Amino acid sequence: MTVPAFLEARRSIRAFTDAPVADDALDVLVAAACIAPAPHHSRPWRFVTITSADAKEALAAGMGARWRTDLAADDVAADRIDELVAASHAKLTGAPAVVLGCLTWNGLDRYPDEARRRAEWGMALLSLGAAVENLMLAAADAGLASCWVAAPIFCPDAARDALALPDEWLPHACVLVGHPDPAYVGRVRPPIPLDDLRARR
Ligand SMILES: Cc1cc2nc3c(=O)[nH]c(=O)nc-3n(C[C@H](O)[C@H](O)[C@H](O)COP(=O)(O)O)c2cc1C
Repeated sequence: MTVPAFLEARRSIRAFTDAPVADDALDVLVAAACIAPAPHHSRPWRFVTITSADAKEALAAGMGARWRTDLAADDVAADRIDELVAASHAKLTGAPAVVLGCLTWNGLDRYPDEARRRAEWGMALLSLGAAVENLMLAAADAGLASCWVAAPIFCPDAARDALALPDEWLPHACVLVGHPDPAYVGRVRPPIPLDDLRARR
């Protein structure tokens, strides 16, 4: 059994050279994201490509401030909070480019009840995941490194406000993009325990 090589080739790469990523190259990645499957022909995503130092700084600072508050509420020690927030800040500001994937209700079905509203939003989130996977596969195909960063899903409004995005754009995914640092050694991909992860009926 062999998984297609183009899927195997995508890895999370967390170290980049200083080389910038051209806007055109980022646009190709976003176009790849935008052919992902989406519920009932909607495209409930918006993407923000971020390359300026100011915008990266604003995003990292906005999300960092929120994380700091959350960690303090969790009773995490102050020096540990400083360490975590600084590492996250350095990760975001150190990447040559960041692509922020946002969700919007635009194009989604509206329901009067909470259960179906959650299901509809859940479908949008699933499709954002598919879009981000497309984006990362396209990055790998272009010889670019990428890594998904979870942060904005915990603080969509802080991420949105940091970049002065429209109210209805809610950031939920963040992908660092750059040229791979040749010295970076990633984890060995663990084998897939198919019998544990798949059932047959
Ligand atoms: C929703 C999501 C959130 C993630 N968040 C982070 C993150 O915050 N920081 C990070 O370094 N990697 C993050 N990752 C990357 C995973 O750690 C990585 O995909 C996993 O270890 C498998 O490695 P691979 O992508 O190289 O196959 C995230 C991945 C997903 C799908």
